[in-house]
Amino acid sequence: MSKPATALHTVTEHSPPARVRLLDRRNAHADPDDERRALVAGLFAAPAVISPKYFYDDIGCTLFEAICSLPEYYPTRTERAILTTHRDSIVQAVGTGRQFVDLGAGDCAKAALLLPALHARRYVAVDIAEAAIGPALSRLTPVFPRVEFMGVVTDFSRRLDLGGAIDAGPVTFFYPGSSIGNFTPDEALSLLRRVRDLCGPESGLLIGVDTKKDKARLDAAYNDTLGVTAAFNLNVLNHVNVLADCDFKPAGFAHVAFYEPIKGRVEMHLESRHLQRVRVGGRERVFVEGERIHTENSYKYHPGEFADLLASAGFTELRVWQDDAGDFAVFYAS
Ligand code: TRP
Repeated sequence: MSKPATALHTVTEHSPPARVRLLDRRNAHADPDDERRALVAGLFAAPAVISPKYFYDDIGCTLFEAICSLPEYYPTRTERAILTTHRDSIVQAVGTGRQFVDLGAGDCAKAALLLPALHARRYVAVDIAEAAIGPALSRLTPVFPRVEFMGVVTDFSRRLDLGGAIDAGPVTFFYPGSSIGNFTPDEALSLLRRVRDLCGPESGLLIGVDTKKDKARLDAAYNDTLGVTAAFNLNVLNHVNVLADCDFKPAGFAHVAFYEPIKGRVEMHLESRHLQRVRVGGRERVFVEGERIHTENSYKYHPGEFADLLASAGFTELRVWQDDAGDFAVFYAS
């Protein structure tokens, strides 16, 4: 059965100006009841798991933006430095006048660095969180009067449905922030393949990837002194309480994050501080002391490993830019 046509999103306090179209595709493929059941099933599993997409309620988006400016969290600033330092050669590789699709756009800050040089015909911000892209698009629209701005609110981890936001012309997909690392390598490969399938001639993917490095630095990046990452991780419990009839008390859990060098990933967990009974989807879930809820992985890749992944996804031409220390890598794959 075909789903109803894309609805123009209703007016909220975040609503961007009339020049910006915001498409809400959240429920186009996912039934909220199925989503809630999957969330509850994950919480009853052993080990329990919460999908990282639930981090991004309003407070989660704000905390995430704060993480990006923490001294320990080097990826954001390193990627920004790469995009700025190598802007000319990146723009040359990507080409100008394309449609520019920003996957997980958030506050759109990274795209804003490139937009003046890219002369994009259309800019499409895609994110699961309307709370982030609404205000960001409102800020950008007056700055780039020639660009057509669009927002698509969707969970592209399941399906890359842009709801008609792009046409058949050349398109640059932009996936910064090493968010690709939040998928397992298998899931990452299938997302990269889906992007590749949407790339016609003169199209490609500009993607940022955090590299494998010293465990101490990776551990510090996800355990900042101010406790912002801990707050971000714990806040998912408040969001889950609202979504799935739960009564988690964040104070009953501790933030645990560490680099696991064998799997090549940072893992984030919430660890129960004591034996506790929690209402989960209207039923009781007992968490014993020390029991963990797995909330996120962040895979790290040697540049060569990631180049192999891009090649497996069907991309044939690769360019890569890095900072001098090799802490981060930006690829253009076409
Ligand atoms: N994808 C980035 C990373 O894994 C950013 C990110 C997502 C992040 N969730 C996070 C950073 C939680 C810190 C904590 O690093």
